[in-house]
Amino acid sequence: MRVYTTSFLLFILRLASAAPTPAPFFGINLAVGQSSDSAPVLVPQTDITSQLVRPALFARAVYCSSPVIKRWACGEPCKALGNNIQILAAGGDDKRVPNFFVAYDKEQDTVVVAHQGTEPKNFLSDLNDLNIDQVRANTTVLPNAGADVRMHDGFLETQERTSDLVLSTVQSALKSTGSKKVLVVGHSLGAAIASIDGMMLKMKLDPRIAVTTTVFGLPRVGNKAWADLVDRTLGASFTHVTNQDDPVPRVPPQFLNFQHPSNEIHITSVDHSGKTATAELCPGQENRECARGNSFLASSITNHRGPYFANISMANKFCPL
Ligand SMILES: *[C@@H]1O[C@H](CO)[C@@H](O)[C@H](O)[C@H]1NC(C)=O
Ligand SMILES: *[C@@H]1O[C@H](CO)[C@@H](O)[C@H](O)[C@H]1NC(C)=O
Repeated sequence: MRVYTTSFLLFILRLASAAPTPAPFFGINLAVGQSSDSAPVLVPQTDITSQLVRPALFARAVYCSSPVIKRWACGEPCKALGNNIQILAAGGDDKRVPNFFVAYDKEQDTVVVAHQGTEPKNFLSDLNDLNIDQVRANTTVLPNAGADVRMHDGFLETQERTSDLVLSTVQSALKSTGSKKVLVVGHSLGAAIASIDGMMLKMKLDPRIAVTTTVFGLPRVGNKAWADLVDRTLGASFTHVTNQDDPVPRVPPQFLNFQHPSNEIHITSVDHSGKTATAELCPGQENRECARGNSFLASSITNHRGPYFANISMANKFCPL
């Protein structure tokens, strides 16, 4: 592993900032569109704090039931985000429609979309089912997706159940607040839904709106054409965080033609308190030095739940209300 200084990262950021997509400083899009085994780059702690903690807090809070989310009274997961959160839509039944919300984060002047995940044990057995069908992208949701883009049937169907409401709520929120920023987050199944939402919003909103998609414990959502489309459409504004030996990012398997987009941030260790993580940015798609290189024998469902960093874990049990 190579270690670069913050000034090097800032230098890369400046290079990337000429690009039309808003480039958070993780935007080291080396070898985008290709599998890679290039050396990962250490992510400075300050960057974890400024870029990843708040998205992770939203991805945790969406596990709370929608009645408490609507009142922003979900206990610690809500408190950790402060009181300047205005819920614009919230719903889900924790089953067919995983919980979700659209909120206005006044503190960051950002419209936030969050999607809940599901119990990882059931999820893994579903994902390992060899009958997983890949279907063509829904061009109502993703107008720029070509016929070669194939996606996981179940993820697509689940996303479609909330896509119209998410889109219309985000559009009216941008109008009423004047905000120019959208953040889309999710964990596990919610990470898959959030990835599709991020693509939908980038394709459908005014191109001047900055759409940032930050997801945790993402399973593979589609084929190589999907991964390439995500790279082209979202570039450095898409980040998927994988934690140590979490098996979920490795399913469905690549031999069934599933492929992750670029911009994986791989956590290699978390200290005892759960508060400090060592994380690396992995160049390219499916970097062999990161989650892809994990052995299934060492896989850990606990790592899927967290803690990721700042002692943030994501599952129903971390939101008892
Ligand atoms: C595409 O998604 C929309 C929801 O945005 C849904 O109403 C429509 O039925 C879907 N189309 C197909 C062909 O599944
Ligand atoms: C970390 O979070 C867990 C679960 O929410 C909690 O039980 C534990 O006390 C926290 N640990 C620290 C060191 O804050």
